[in-house]
Formats: sequence, C-alpha cells, structure tokens
Amino acid sequence: MKVDTILVIDDDDQLRKSFCKLLKEENYSVISAASGEAGLEIVKQNTLDLVIIDMRLPGISGMETFKRIKEIDSKLPAIIVTAYGTTQIAIEATKMGAYDYVLKPFDVPEMLNLIRQAIEAGYFMRAPVEMDISAETHSGDAIIGQSKAMQEIYKAIGRVSQSDATVLIRGESGTGKELVARAIYQHGVRADKPFLIINCVAIPETLLESELFGYEKGAFTGASQKHIGKIEQANGGTIFLDEIGDMPLSIQAKILRLLQEKCIERLGGGETIPVDVRIVAATHKNLENAIKEEKFREDLYFRLKVVTINLPPLRERREDIPSLISYYMTRFSRELKIDNPGIKTEAIDRLSNYDWPGNIRELSNLLQKVLIFNRGAPILATDFDQVIQQRENQTLAEKIELNEIRQWVHELLSDKSKNHTFDDFMDTVSGIVISEALMICNGNRSQAAKLLNISRPTLHAKIDKHKIKLKTQISSNDLAT
Ligand SMILES: Nc1ncnc2c1ncn2[C@@H]1O[C@H](COP(=O)(O)OP(=O)(O)OP(=O)(O)O)[C@@H](O)[C@H]1O
Ligand SMILES: [Mg+2]
Repeated sequence: MKVDTILVIDDDDQLRKSFCKLLKEENYSVISAASGEAGLEIVKQNTLDLVIIDMRLPGISGMETFKRIKEIDSKLPAIIVTAYGTTQIAIEATKMGAYDYVLKPFDVPEMLNLIRQAIEAGYFMRAPVEMDISAETHSGDAIIGQSKAMQEIYKAIGRVSQSDATVLIRGESGTGKELVARAIYQHGVRADKPFLIINCVAIPETLLESELFGYEKGAFTGASQKHIGKIEQANGGTIFLDEIGDMPLSIQAKILRLLQEKCIERLGGGETIPVDVRIVAATHKNLENAIKEEKFREDLYFRLKVVTINLPPLRERREDIPSLISYYMTRFSRELKIDNPGIKTEAIDRLSNYDWPGNIRELSNLLQKVLIFNRGAPILATDFDQVIQQRENQTLAEKIELNEIRQWVHELLSDKSKNHTFDDFMDTVSGIVISEALMICNGNRSQAAKLLNISRPTLHAKIDKHKIKLKTQISSNDLAT
C-alpha cells in the first residue's frame, strides 16, 4: 500500500518534532521545514500528499507560503494551523482553497481525522480516472468496460465535461458513480480548480448544513468562530453531492437556491454570498418514489435531472466481467506484491454468471479476498463457490435498505411525544413481514405459513393481532383457504 507523505511547516522546533513523531506513528512519511522558504523548496522537489502550514512563520508568512504552494501545485491539499489571533487569515486561506484550518493547540484525534479527509480529497482531485484502458498498462483508477452500455457512458462523460451543466449520476450501489463524478471533473474545464465531495448520508443533518454552507460566529452554541463551508471553499470548482437522495428537505431547498441564484448564505448570517460552483450529484435511490413520499423536492429533481447519466448494473453488461477480473487481478497482485497467479476459464465463467447485487465493488472485494486467501495459487472456480453460495443465501435482513429502516426507527424514537417500546417496533416489522408473505402467496394462508416456516394457527393469530387487511386484488376464494 502507498505511504502518504506529509510536509509540516512550523518554526516551533519542539512542537514540530513531536507532531512529526506522532504522524510517523500513524504510518505517514513526514518531511518538515522550519520556514516558508524551506517548505517551498521541499514542495518543488518532492511528491507530497498534504502540507500542514503554521500561519505565523519567520520570513515569508504562512499565508504567502500557502499562496506560493498553490502556484506550484494547485491540487496539493493544505491544512492551516493557526493561533487564536490569526483566524481571520486562516479563513481567507480556506476561501482560497485550503482544505481546512485548525486552532492551536489542536485535538489530536480530530487533527488525524482531518488529515485523512484532506489526503483523500487531494487524491480525488489528482488520481486520474482513465476510461477504458487495457488492464496491463494501468496503475491508477480506471473505468473498465467496452460494452455498448459503457461506451455510452464514456460519450456522456465527454459531452458533459465540456459544459458547466449540473449532472445527476444514477445507478445501483457499487456501479461506479463516484468514479464517473471524478472523471467528469478531471476531463472538464474546471479540472485545475477544487473538487470536493460531500456524502449526504454519512453526515448528520445539522452538521451537513454547516459543512456545506458554513456559519458565522455565534450562529449556534459552539460556533465560536466563523467557518467557511465546502460550497464556498469549492468556489470556481466542482462539488460532488453524493447520495443526494438522502439529503434532508431543508437543505434541498438551499441547494435549489444555489442552482437557481448561484448564491448561498452562511448559517446565522444575513449576507448573500455569490458562489460559482459546478454541481455533480449522485444517488442510488429512486428519486421519483422519494418525490411521491415527499422526501425529495420535485423542483430540485427537475433541475438536477436535465443531464442524467444512468450507470447500468453489472449484470446488464456481463461481457465486461472478464476485463474487470483481469484489471483487478493485475492491480491487486501489484498492490499485494505477489505475482499474478492467473485465473482459470471456469472461474471467469462462474463469476460471469453471478448476479452481482453489489456490482463492481462486490466483484473487486471478492477478488481481493480470494487473492489473499490463495497465496499465489491459481484461482479456480471452486474458490468462489462458498462465498457466492453464501451471498446467494443472504438473509432478507442483509439485502434490504438498512438505511431506510434506520431512518424510520430514528424518526420515531426522536418523537418525544410518543412512547415507542421495543415491542412496538418488532410488531410493526412482523406485520410487514406477514403482509408481504401473504401478497407473495396471493393471500393463501397455508402457503404463507409454509413460506415463513410458522404454523397456520400462529399465522392466523398474527394476522388477527396486526389486523392485516389484504389488498383487493386477492379474491375471496383465496382468503377462504
Ligand atoms: N467500470 C469500472 N471499472 C473499474 N472499477 C470500477 C468501475 N466501476 C466501479 N469501479 C470500482 O468499484 C468500486 C465502487 O465504485 P463507486 O464507489 O464509484 O460506486 P458507487 O456507484 O459510488 O457506489 P455507492 O452507491 O455504493 O456509493 C470502486 O472501488 C470503483 O473504483
Ligand atoms: Mg458512491
């Protein structure tokens, strides 16, 4: 695995040394400099993944150092470290594209977390995503596939890259939405400007709003300093709103305003701030259903969907499976530092016939696992039997959208006006299970009992308890059974 290299620029000898030691313990490769001038030399001569700059430096200032680093390498992510008195400068630096800033003395776990995020953001900006290359020659990320469906995707990426249009990328989980977003950015006219990713499902609602829009000092308890949000930070560049189908309605309204009026307001601030960002959004959700359920704004949907890229599930382009296998075998062998052991034709056939509910992510995870497990022995069809069998037999609970259930439970539990007990939830779930089973069996209770592996009387008792009403399409004959 690649080791990330961090440059630390700080004139405080003791602090710099202990900070570098800490980073080394976290398995980073670390270079340090005691002045901006020395730091710039290092940036010129090394390949770096992150630079951490103290604002107060002897000689040229931290801000000046940051500006010059941007000129040398506009995509090298920077974290600004600042003492309380110099936060204004740090805020300016974030507006100019610094990843973030932290106040001294900083909280170590928080700092390490930020470092990981900043390095990842830099990676997304810099690691090229190539399209449709031969597996042998490539070292970075690539979108593999020569199927007709994928050719259409490449054409679409090419077309949208040349415009500033908002793009909506749709597709099941693991089909490559994020990869496509990065390709659009890298091939586009804003490729030398920032690219920031916000995952709407991974961040809690209140935090998501301040992450995106930033806030003024005193906007809420704990807002002791002004904070520049990711949208403002991506000014001139691109922001990727991942899992936009999960974005809370209140934030959707603000994104709509951003699309229509090209401006935002920080939380707790009345000032309207003009911003120029290109939005690329992605979701695996059915937005049309979400609109019906009033979870997604129709007006936002219409704005987003003008340019849509639909990524096909892997099972609809099985002809790409062999080249994906070959690509990942080469790539993982290299990363694991082993000779590519090769894979038997029967094994490729076995994988080509599987349905891949988790799409390419599932395929690559599985190949990696088998490669490690086989320790250099050629890969056979039987190597996959057990895993694929297991997946095909996955329980219902593993396949359903856990996020939606979580959200439902979360909403009900958060409603303080109601007292929901554990049993209430279980009852609701068992009610759903029974009515679905009855639907599948067209209302035939004997069959439904068999399907659920419970006795008929137990099923009857549950139907009574839950007062399950059967849909009208079920004939009264069926009900009699
Ligand atoms: N066409 C492809 N060729 C090679 N690798 C791919 C391809 N599509 C996806 N991948 C790889 O599969 C994994 C999942 O892709 P990605 O994260 O882009 O999917 P996603 O659609 O965003 O999924 P999710 O909805 O779960 O976030 C990544 O490791 C990505 O590099
Ligand atoms: Mg994704």
